[in-house]
Amino acid sequence: MPPVITEIEDLHRIYRRRVPKMFYDYCQSGSWTEQTFRENETDFDLLRLRQRVAVDMEGRSLATTMIGRDVAMPVALAPVGLTGMQHADGEILAAKAAEKAGVPFTLSTMSICSIEDVAGATGAPFWFQLYVMKDDEFIDNLIRRAKEAGCDAMVLTLDLQILGQRHKDIKNGLSAPPKPTLRNLANLSTKWGWGLDMLGTHRRQFGNIVGHAKGVTDTSSLSSWTAEQFDPRLDWGKIKRIADKWGGKLILKGILDAEDARMALDVGADAIVVSNHGGRQLDGALSSIRMLPDIVDEVGDRTEIHMDGGIRSGQDVLKAIALGARGTYIGRAFIYGLGAMGQKGVEEALSVIRKELDTTMALCGEKDIHAVGRHNLLVPRDFRGQWEEGNT
Ligand code: GLV
Repeated sequence: MPPVITEIEDLHRIYRRRVPKMFYDYCQSGSWTEQTFRENETDFDLLRLRQRVAVDMEGRSLATTMIGRDVAMPVALAPVGLTGMQHADGEILAAKAAEKAGVPFTLSTMSICSIEDVAGATGAPFWFQLYVMKDDEFIDNLIRRAKEAGCDAMVLTLDLQILGQRHKDIKNGLSAPPKPTLRNLANLSTKWGWGLDMLGTHRRQFGNIVGHAKGVTDTSSLSSWTAEQFDPRLDWGKIKRIADKWGGKLILKGILDAEDARMALDVGADAIVVSNHGGRQLDGALSSIRMLPDIVDEVGDRTEIHMDGGIRSGQDVLKAIALGARGTYIGRAFIYGLGAMGQKGVEEALSVIRKELDTTMALCGEKDIHAVGRHNLLVPRDFRGQWEEGNT
């Protein structure tokens, strides 16, 4: 009997049993104390929904657009590094599930399946997430490859030029593929389903990088990649040069501050993603959902605002939309599904979120996602918090 999946947590439980500890920990970690990682989720609970009744709820619609692209609901799959280590050919499977559900898939630079692999296996265009590296030639190449693959947006990540420390990744010796140490072999021997699938694919390294970039000491290590390749001098000038080189739709990811949101407008971003990288970078930053209203108030009339961080349900999506986001991204929520049961699991994750979003919207008295707004929420008076900048 296949397990009955009614919520994202069901997928999480199966995922945890099926996937090697190293990759489970990679997904399920924030940086340092994990305060921001935790609060991304728990701050959603502070927002409450207004129940409205006796409102015609027939003919509901979740369909909208994100940067002009039609989406079946305002949810995209976030770029997640090493997705092809959570399940063999993970990026291809997730992209197929997204295509089926009518939502965008975003491929990480640090993926296992390459840009060409995903393009070759899917029909719908996907979005490509770029990390800015020191080597201009390598960036030019990635941009060219993304264009040739028909990617219809570039998601430029701004909050990971150096890596926030995640303790478990260091302790586990995270790498792709895992190194054959005694500890890893002992753990892998209990994950035979995962292992058999992995034996059936040749995609076990960073597909966008290996064979394309020069001067890397250890091609299997995310931390040495970032330390050696990512450009710590990234500034708005370089962002603008990359945007011009790309020339297509641009989404700037990793904005958590109203001042940065204004700067993003100058670069000509089609959308910004309010994000703290799933709590994986600056530990101690406020959650994405808390920062969202400030940023919407600052630039929401001039660009499209997306958000990620902490979304585990359709209710969370509804709250983000009500606070002014045009679209949201799920990362861990789809990885749980992927690790649990491959493409089917990602389809399940999207279907769970879709149903929750649809029913919750109806119970709030709305039948069109475009009509959802702050009037659907009860927001605690101090939701944003009484923070003052240190210099005031
Ligand atoms: C990015 O690749 C991350 O590990 O957060």
